[in-house]
Amino acid sequence: MDFSDIDAYLHKVTPKREPVLAAMEKYAKQNGFPIIGPLVGRFLYQMATLAKARKILELGSGFGYSAYWFARAIGSQGRIIMTDMDQANRDRAFKYFEQAGLDAKFTYHLGDALKIAVNLKGPYDIVLNDIDKQDYPATIDIAASLLRPGGLFITDNVIWSGKVYDGKARDAATRGIRRFTRMLYADDRFFTTIMPVRDGISVAVRV
Ligand SMILES: C[S@@+](CC[C@H](N)C(=O)[O-])C[C@H]1O[C@@H](n2cnc3c(N)ncnc32)[C@H](O)[C@@H]1O
Repeated sequence: MDFSDIDAYLHKVTPKREPVLAAMEKYAKQNGFPIIGPLVGRFLYQMATLAKARKILELGSGFGYSAYWFARAIGSQGRIIMTDMDQANRDRAFKYFEQAGLDAKFTYHLGDALKIAVNLKGPYDIVLNDIDKQDYPATIDIAASLLRPGGLFITDNVIWSGKVYDGKARDAATRGIRRFTRMLYADDRFFTTIMPVRDGISVAVRV
């Protein structure tokens, strides 16, 4: 059994996306921009629905693909706080949200998510973590302090194309993810599982 075969199969059977999401995926592909993609997007939609989420924080929002899936799940009663360092990503995100007529409320902060989050007030229902991987360990305390009990801390790329179990991989990003994973599993503020969907997602429930 090969995970790339499973991934290809899952992409093949996953329903087609609505036009604006499809346009976002096309933009990401053409520009080599990393997004969570439709398999994880659908998962985020499910998590937001199950958690009856109203308030969601994203650490690393890019041009809004993951926020779009959340927005579809939470509707007009919901608020998504987005963070990124790049003004062009912010502008692109709002262009797509407007095109799609999304009615969730979005706030997009520009700057370092780790610094921005310190000044935010919880409680949040979900924190999505997708920033630079060497900074992953620092996100655990942030999520712990902002999530409500039962809230979800979801982190993308925890398998990192298999580099996390490749002993030869010693780069800062891979080491950051390994350390993050060890810390999160050991942290009794959370109950954590890792799912090998796409590039790996950890889901940690705030105890
Ligand atoms: C993988 S992309 C995010 C994609 C987005 N979550 C999605 O799936 O649509 C990571 C984004 O995080 C931003 N980023 C990385 N480190 C960051 C940090 N410390 N603070 C804020 N943004 C950061 C990058 O600029 C990039 O746009």
